[in-house]
Amino acid sequence: MLYHNLLRPLLFGLDPEFVHKQTIRIGHTLSQSSLACRLLRQIYQAQFEALSVKVWGLDFKNPLGLAAGFDKQGQLHEVIAALGFGHMEVGSISLRPWPGNPSPTLLRLPRDRGLINRLGLNSEGAEIVYRRLRDLPFQIPTGINLVKTADPEIAGDQAIQDFLEDFHRFYPLADFLTLNLSCPNTVEGKTFEDPELLEPFLKGLKERRAQLEGLHKRKAVLMKLSPDLGDSALDSLLRLAEDYAIDGFVIGNTTARREDLKTQPALLENFPVGGLSGRPLKKYTQQMTEKVFARTGGRFPIIACGGVGCDPEKHPAQEVWEYLKLGATLVQVFTGLIYRGPVLVKMINRGLMRILRENGVSRLADFLGTR
Ligand SMILES: Cc1cc2nc3c(=O)[nH]c(=O)nc-3n(C[C@H](O)[C@H](O)[C@H](O)COP(=O)(O)O)c2cc1C
Repeated sequence: MLYHNLLRPLLFGLDPEFVHKQTIRIGHTLSQSSLACRLLRQIYQAQFEALSVKVWGLDFKNPLGLAAGFDKQGQLHEVIAALGFGHMEVGSISLRPWPGNPSPTLLRLPRDRGLINRLGLNSEGAEIVYRRLRDLPFQIPTGINLVKTADPEIAGDQAIQDFLEDFHRFYPLADFLTLNLSCPNTVEGKTFEDPELLEPFLKGLKERRAQLEGLHKRKAVLMKLSPDLGDSALDSLLRLAEDYAIDGFVIGNTTARREDLKTQPALLENFPVGGLSGRPLKKYTQQMTEKVFARTGGRFPIIACGGVGCDPEKHPAQEVWEYLKLGATLVQVFTGLIYRGPVLVKMINRGLMRILRENGVSRLADFLGTR
């Protein structure tokens, strides 16, 4: 109530980039204080044994995670764990530092309960983020989300090498690794979802993994997909994922679509490029989750991500439950935190317990196994 009635109106009156930067700054400061984290745990955490799930050999204490893009530079781990998330992704991290796009890069769409971002994959680069994370004992399973350096001059074979080096760097640190394949990052606007780029990349990745698995524990590698992929592109991608031993999917990234929005067209025209997240994204993510689950016969665990917590007419735990019914094993949020605040995590975990009881399910893992 405090966030909804007081903080959100205040924050929504300020420039979204300013708010984002200050949130990270405050979060980073809180992360360094064990007292602050203990306090946050007392206020925000709600732990329920029945929500625990084991995937890729990792123990998730609940199915809700923080999506990539919130903690791009690896500054917030302790605070995110203290808020009660079951896992998080750090990144996207690129091998080389990249400044991203000039302002403005964020546009709130309160009428649609969405957000458009065109941050442009800003990253402090692998070296700095690695040093920040290397001595941190992860308190919750932590995925490192990797992306090719967004410099369009890095193309072709160089692009593959850039991505592979980034992978090599973070493999020993990560609990799992997510490949962000869906951002346009070559001069022609091609993404790594293009089979022409993806197949040679996956070949190189397989060789690297074989080397690294000789030295470290095996780590799950996931592909993060765009919800805008057409059916035939999706099919070839799923085939490649199977051929090259990918362990699961994050579905998905933001959408380039702008259909059926209530936001004034003039506002949108000022922001023609950028990824849309939040409530308008949910229907695309749901369709894609269902499709991938059906087409792969449920063999790949899916992390669904799109719009959870943004719909004022739905309990956010109900939205998570819908994703789990469609085939997801875990669910992530980003934009929902902007609309509901950090209490969203507790709301979801408590709500999921109620839904399990109503459906006569004693443990979430039992339900996931029956689909
Ligand atoms: C400001 C912003 C930055 C993002 N940056 C990244 C990123 O660096 N890497 C990535 O894989 N996804 C990124 N995403 C996408 C989110 O991880 C997520 O897939 C998407 O926002 C959909 O979830 P949501 O509707 O809960 O926000 C970003 C999203 C937002 C809103």
